[in-house]
Amino acid sequence: MEFKDNHHAIFQHISVVGDHSHPLYIVKGNKNILIDAGILPKATQFARGIEAALDGTKPDTLSITHSHFDHVGCAHLFQQKFGLTIHCSSMAQEILQNEDMAEMIDLRNQELKDKMKDFSNSAFAPLQNIITVKEGDRIDLGDGRFLEVFAVPGHSDCALAYLLHPDKILFAGDAAGMLDHNGYVWPVFFTRYSAYEQSLQKMAALDLEGLACGHSDFMAGKDKITQFFIDSLSETRRMKMEILGKLHRAMDHIEIAESIKEKRYIPNCVLGEGDELLTNIYALVRAVNNEFNRQR
Ligand SMILES: [Fe+2]
Repeated sequence: MEFKDNHHAIFQHISVVGDHSHPLYIVKGNKNILIDAGILPKATQFARGIEAALDGTKPDTLSITHSHFDHVGCAHLFQQKFGLTIHCSSMAQEILQNEDMAEMIDLRNQELKDKMKDFSNSAFAPLQNIITVKEGDRIDLGDGRFLEVFAVPGHSDCALAYLLHPDKILFAGDAAGMLDHNGYVWPVFFTRYSAYEQSLQKMAALDLEGLACGHSDFMAGKDKITQFFIDSLSETRRMKMEILGKLHRAMDHIEIAESIKEKRYIPNCVLGEGDELLTNIYALVRAVNNEFNRQR
């Protein structure tokens, strides 16, 4: 569901644009910061939302949580439109400035454009004007507010989370897990299991009033956020044990992914549909196998 007028104010100085499956966040200050850049077929919807949320002023910078195609889709377009500087990790920079990787990111976005009947000539291309940031760095908004940077690898090795001070709001991208419509929290350790679990523990230990994840509603309130991290962490550990048990019974990796898909799938699943969902679950199986399966 799209937001009315393409944007929605969470607080006076924070707005979300897009929709619940691909929300982009704007933090308004002396400098306006955009967080993540969604998918290309939603570019027009995003741009309208950004302009409405900022009353005609422009975003100054874009902070990217990680380099997955569905978080950077409109980044090149926004750079052209708004003249943005970009913040991301050095690992994300390598990916986002590489011609071949950019082509892959564009391909995934073009596939989505076809599916969503966007016949425009919009495209993703290597990004310019990147400032790399790392754990402990601060991105100043100029009015007493700043983003503190955290490294949160595991979903993606290039992943960062941004904590807005003094508001205590964490922009976590996909590093905190993915909340499905039925309340199930999908673990998404696509690259490294232990790093993912450690990143979750790091974020769970923060004193937070708000949590903004990459594919769900904004979460407000300490208790709700604490419970979310408890659920996310316990399901992460349980999923590891389930996968490991099946690996030890010599089940084939695809067979394991199929069995998890069958058990957890709901229509409009946050982790994708059909082959995309299977590929994502397969990444979980592979991560556990690579790190823990001594029988391989
Ligand atoms: Fe992701």
